[in-house]
Amino acid sequence: MSNENLQSVLGESRVFPPSAEFVAKARVNAEKLAEMKAAAAADYVGFWADLARKELSWATPFQTALDDSKAPNYQWFPDGTLNASYNCLDRHIATRGDKIAIRYEGEKGDVKTWTFRQLLADVSKLANGLKSLGIGKGDRVVIYLPHSPEAVIAMQACARIGATHSVVFGGFSAGSLKDRIDDTGARIIITADGGNRGGHIVDLKKACDEALTLGCKSIEKVVVGIRTGHSINMTPGRDILWSDLIAGVSDTCEPEFVGAEHPLFLLYTSGSTGKPKGIQHSTGGYLLGAMVSAQWIFDLREDDLFWCTADVGWVTGHSYVCYGPLAGGTTVMIYEGVPTVPDAGRFWKICQDHGVTIFYTAPTAIRALMKSGETFPNSYDLSKLRLLGSVGEPINPEAWMWFHRVIGKEKLPIVDTWWQTETGSTMMSPIPGAMPTKPGSCTQPLPGIFADVVDEAGVPVEGKTAGGYLVITKPWPSMLRTIWGDNERYIKTYFGQFPPTTGPDGREQWLYVAGDSTHRDEDGYYWILGRVDDVLNVSGHRLGTMEVESALVSHPRVAEAAVVGRPHEIKGEAICAFVICKGTRPEGKEAEALIKELRDHVGREIGAIAKPDDIRLADGLPKTRSGKIMRRLLRSIAKGEEITQDISTLENPAIVAQLAAKA
Ligand code: WTA
Repeated sequence: MSNENLQSVLGESRVFPPSAEFVAKARVNAEKLAEMKAAAAADYVGFWADLARKELSWATPFQTALDDSKAPNYQWFPDGTLNASYNCLDRHIATRGDKIAIRYEGEKGDVKTWTFRQLLADVSKLANGLKSLGIGKGDRVVIYLPHSPEAVIAMQACARIGATHSVVFGGFSAGSLKDRIDDTGARIIITADGGNRGGHIVDLKKACDEALTLGCKSIEKVVVGIRTGHSINMTPGRDILWSDLIAGVSDTCEPEFVGAEHPLFLLYTSGSTGKPKGIQHSTGGYLLGAMVSAQWIFDLREDDLFWCTADVGWVTGHSYVCYGPLAGGTTVMIYEGVPTVPDAGRFWKICQDHGVTIFYTAPTAIRALMKSGETFPNSYDLSKLRLLGSVGEPINPEAWMWFHRVIGKEKLPIVDTWWQTETGSTMMSPIPGAMPTKPGSCTQPLPGIFADVVDEAGVPVEGKTAGGYLVITKPWPSMLRTIWGDNERYIKTYFGQFPPTTGPDGREQWLYVAGDSTHRDEDGYYWILGRVDDVLNVSGHRLGTMEVESALVSHPRVAEAAVVGRPHEIKGEAICAFVICKGTRPEGKEAEALIKELRDHVGREIGAIAKPDDIRLADGLPKTRSGKIMRRLLRSIAKGEEITQDISTLENPAIVAQLAAKA
């Protein structure tokens, strides 16, 4: 538990009620929210079942809302059938066929739009193309594309034919791509020549080719879209251009209706071991969570232009770019590149040029833009904005206040949304027209979601200064279903910390452990303090310390490595690695060269986001007599703190001085 974070949230007492103007037009106001919460408290299964009937279009209506006979492997709406792409596209055609579904701007400024009708046609064409390659229900398709409408088209095309997609973030390296392909057993990968990011070309096809030389025996075909137009290698018989695949195919494709529990997608995320987990999401429950949460939190209206800046490679891009808003018939904005090209005004220029009404981004982006000053945002017309959002990591009150004052002109509500890859959709967030916000708090669980704070023994903690583990006490529709290929790990990781208890109805109750620590204040508002496991949150991206350690240790010069996080002004957390070399420890220029080589090596093994900020070469690591690395001590050293902890139980106390001296 981080006492420092706890102290800082305890000091925050500002409260911001929504404006009367916002409340008057809000989709959910305070009375409506109270009604929804009361309905969910009385019968949460019935609450979700009613929403599922009302909000989703089913091919076969479900009879069973929740099957918990195999808890904690819950099944929602298991006997119903539906199609996610039908729900995001077809059902809007009659009323919104010519409405813009996607507005797109490339990093170089090229703009393109798709109406719902055009999007449906493009999705259907690719779906037919995939079918012609023999892909259908039960197959996995890996998607490795730039953040683009094509990525959404690829995801929707898979959903349309019942294939399970697994999107790999374009910033991951060939090695990470290979590991994910091998774990999914995908037969097809959909990629592009490259993407534009930060003024450079991200050479996706090259990384893909490299991944395929490293393994990926299951891959039969590589579908290649053209984005950058730079020269690429095409392997005859294996690689096929997207444009060739869809040449002459029909632009209609009957959706494949699947059971609500059918896996819509797998998305890999970091945990406390070296191997990322394939989080498996369902079709019906997932789509319901993504859709209704988007409507409640973002107060979506017919004329909104909703911009979630997250890449489709992360869960936020799945739920709030590809699925949730489209299922509700909302227009989404997609921007390919980084916020600082050509300058730090890019996001605000996009808001102005396209008329963005709702802007949802990560605290790391807010902190970076905040550093570039107020001139940039003040140079653009941001008057269309009516709501702001934040996701991915705790937002510090200073960044929250800047967002509120400079972008929101002290008028717009901010929704700080807490959730995870595993939860599928937002679990805690303000409902903007229904409650006051506090800078740094994600406020309260959404209707139908039940959270608590418990101690080491699983006992709920009460009181203003009490912190503890954040747990979710009841199953919810968009929860992960399992870890792909490792159900035991699913149960152990998320439900293994506390044994199940028997509820008043005689049913087993399992606590879902989120891996975050939290504090709950006297108004029942939650303040997320950070991860309690060995997971780092670098610029809103989850990375396991073990993953970075394994990457380091795979270098021939490295004998042992320990990785910890330290606070970072913009990224939230920075990666700090302590490395023990094989042979003599290099010094001076030689050490500098090795450090650079190690950073690049981690970049190649995992991706640029995992490159350590600091690498310190040492002769040993602080270990207990039983051989356990004392990470807490390393964290203090990384922060440059004075070491006051008792180090007498260390096997090699002298090493602490050596590590600290290097700070
Ligand atoms: C953190 C991203 C505080 C948290 C949607 C969680 C947050 C992890 C918030 C999940 C928030 C996400 N306030 N912390 N609003 N949102 N987190 O799987 O530690 O990439 O467990 O999902 O990010 O990261 P993931």
